[in-house]
Amino acid sequence: RRPVTTAKLKKMKEDRVPISVITAYDYPSAMLAEQAGIDAILVGDSLGNVVLGYDSTIPVTLEDMIYHTKAVTRAAKTSFVIADMPFMTYHGSVDETLRNAARLMQEGLAKALKLEGGMEIVPAVRALTQAGIPVMAHIGLTPQSIHQIGGYKVQGKNSAQAEKLVEDAKALEQAGAFAIVLELVTDELAAHVTQTLSIPTIGIGAGASCDGQVLVFHDVLGYAAELHPKRFVKTYAHIGEAIRSGIRQYVDEVKNRSFPASEHAFHMEGEVAGLYGG
Ligand code: KIV
Ligand code: NA
Repeated sequence: RRPVTTAKLKKMKEDRVPISVITAYDYPSAMLAEQAGIDAILVGDSLGNVVLGYDSTIPVTLEDMIYHTKAVTRAAKTSFVIADMPFMTYHGSVDETLRNAARLMQEGLAKALKLEGGMEIVPAVRALTQAGIPVMAHIGLTPQSIHQIGGYKVQGKNSAQAEKLVEDAKALEQAGAFAIVLELVTDELAAHVTQTLSIPTIGIGAGASCDGQVLVFHDVLGYAAELHPKRFVKTYAHIGEAIRSGIRQYVDEVKNRSFPASEHAFHMEGEVAGLYGG
């Protein structure tokens, strides 16, 4: 397979070929996603929740993002790897934003960066784009602003909010974004934004009209699954259960001494074996 590029993603929108995106945070998960034929991998700051055990994405640092992006890009040979810029790393001066972005590109080897927000991040999007970095925008529910938003709820339900979201989307496209994530917005509004923009929309909890879909790795696979999966998630496997039962069996076999068996052990040969034969 040829490496996926921003040009390919744009062409997929034009040809109405849906774009598949999943998050990944380490080498084996990225390798498996790559082998499964995913178009793009997002090293999401959702790693704060699903890998590091925080209850939001706010504690995730630039160092965390670089560390995980490095592991993912070692495995992803053809899928397009996008890394999240974490909380407050693109809200200071343009210089500081560029310095942080450079580290994710040079050390993490990401091919693109994702930033949350609307109009207010247009200067950052423009600066990165002018530096040759493809930018994916992210509007609707933006988890880094969860305390300001006040909860994990559907965005753009009334017409004032919807209008603002459409204006944000247009401004981000104008500023040079190559794609835009729509998180937790109504099906109707996502369809409208998708028709209005020439760049691909990638939905999560935003209905079937988006140009592509993204989900979190752990949600897709039932890995350390939440007790109550979110409504927009579909679980395609139950690897958490498979892992738990595998470990349980290992523990049992250690306890009852059925592991290791003779074929897992090493033996002395000849005379010396007689000296040590337990
Ligand atoms: O961090 C993440 O996983 C994301 C996706 C949910 C879009 O930003
Ligand atoms: Na994110």
